[in-house]
Amino acid sequence: MKSVLIFIVVLLVAIQFIPAKVVNPKSNVSLEIKAPKKVMKILKKSCYDCHSNEVKLPWYASIAPASFFIKRHVSLGREWVNFSIWNSYTAKQKDKKLEQIFRSVYHAMPLPDYLKLHKDARLTQKQKNIIRNWTGKTPY
Ligand code: HEC
Repeated sequence: MKSVLIFIVVLLVAIQFIPAKVVNPKSNVSLEIKAPKKVMKILKKSCYDCHSNEVKLPWYASIAPASFFIKRHVSLGREWVNFSIWNSYTAKQKDKKLEQIFRSVYHAMPLPDYLKLHKDARLTQKQKNIIRNWTGKTPY
């Protein structure tokens, strides 16, 4: 039993040396998405922590294994949609992403794991409608 505990402690210490730092690339304001104020407010509050170059990191973001999850969420999130570089997407890409955003706010986004720790990021029905209307898409 004791050796198992020692093993776990050693492991926890060891993984702290695995780099998993989220870096916010320098923002280019002209590339950031432009949307009505009420839309921006929702995106910034509920989406920017994974889909932008302005990720706000909690204190535990530098502690493994939490750091691994956060790093992965932000990397994947930015790959799908990065609101900080929205204007570098082609018209076709934007259209596709708006379609995905329309669908994602039904249930998938923000990520459920994230919502457990950021309860105020959960979208109300009203906020979901604001985002959906803004995308200009309709259910099919
Ligand atoms: C905690 C991090 C996090 C937050 C917050 C978050 N996302 Fe995501 N998002 C992700 C990750 C990770 C993926 C990739 C999921 C995958 O590959 O399975 C993703 C994928 C997506 C996708 C593409 C995949 C799909 O579902 O169609 C869209 C669109 C999206 N997010 C929109 C949003 C919007 C809009 C918000 C805010 C309301 C938001 N996300 C908040 C992490 C996040």
